[in-house]
Amino acid sequence: MASQSVFITRSIPDSGIAALTQAGLGVKMNPFARSLRHEELCDEVGKYDAVICQLSDPIDESVLKAAAPRCRIFATCAVGFDNIDLKTAAELGITITNTPDVLTDATADLAWALLMAAARRLGEAERVVRAEAWQGWGMLDFLGADVWGATLGIVGAGRIGAAVARRAQGFSMPVLYYNDAPNPELDAMGARRVDLLDLLKSSDFISLHVHLTDETRQMIDEKAIRLMKRTAILINTARGAVIDQAALIEALQEGRIAAAGLDVYQSEPHVPKELIDLENVVLLPHIGSATVSTRSRMARIAADNVIAVLNGEPPRTPVTAL
Ligand code: DGY
Repeated sequence: MASQSVFITRSIPDSGIAALTQAGLGVKMNPFARSLRHEELCDEVGKYDAVICQLSDPIDESVLKAAAPRCRIFATCAVGFDNIDLKTAAELGITITNTPDVLTDATADLAWALLMAAARRLGEAERVVRAEAWQGWGMLDFLGADVWGATLGIVGAGRIGAAVARRAQGFSMPVLYYNDAPNPELDAMGARRVDLLDLLKSSDFISLHVHLTDETRQMIDEKAIRLMKRTAILINTARGAVIDQAALIEALQEGRIAAAGLDVYQSEPHVPKELIDLENVVLLPHIGSATVSTRSRMARIAADNVIAVLNGEPPRTPVTAL
């Protein structure tokens, strides 16, 4: 394995690099403090036996074809893999892996932080303090929505959706969920599986936790948003394209829903000016998994997957098409 080497498309925590070098693999890192452009990525990937990539790298047909036949694995440092052309990877015999499980709780915590921030208008209130514009305590100032006892609707009850639901128990929130199959853990905690229409109509908070696929792309469109309560608060830590962003902006501008908390956007890193101008939305730069220990574990899993595949062993967390 001494002559094998790995290309890393953007800096990762030391845990990943250390595992690769201890396994005797050569490591080459993108030298820039930015993602590589498509042509730059295509120029690099074919020179290595493995690539560790990120959710911001579009691993499309041309990148995969440039990587073959030498490169045997693309290990993405993310649970989501909508940026990767799985079909072409399979045709070319390139293994794709992701980093599930280790980021579940960090992402659920962040969804919860967004929910609280949007409900209690934290961004707006903090901006007033920072602008030195606070006039003192006012009975009618910054009135938000109660979280305790409100109904939470979870769209997609996989690992992260379930972890968000678990946290809702501490706030005595009835939980509704929309998912292809029943989730026994959620059922046991008294959550009710409902269809999407019911969930949209009945929830005070709606939190999205689906993978981005052809079925989920823009599933929260104008029609779906019109079903929500005027007091509803929409949280998205999944993928931006699950929501019709233009329809959401219009609904927030017109006060057709109360607020939103967004960690993800349709075309990252672009955040439309219309969203930035709105007070009733909390905006974060895709930091769902951004804790020191979570990112370190993600890097380590990506490295372990590379080491396994280059050793001729099965990867720890392979991605299979949904
Ligand atoms: C993922 O892993 O897909 C997340 O979006 C990263 O925070």
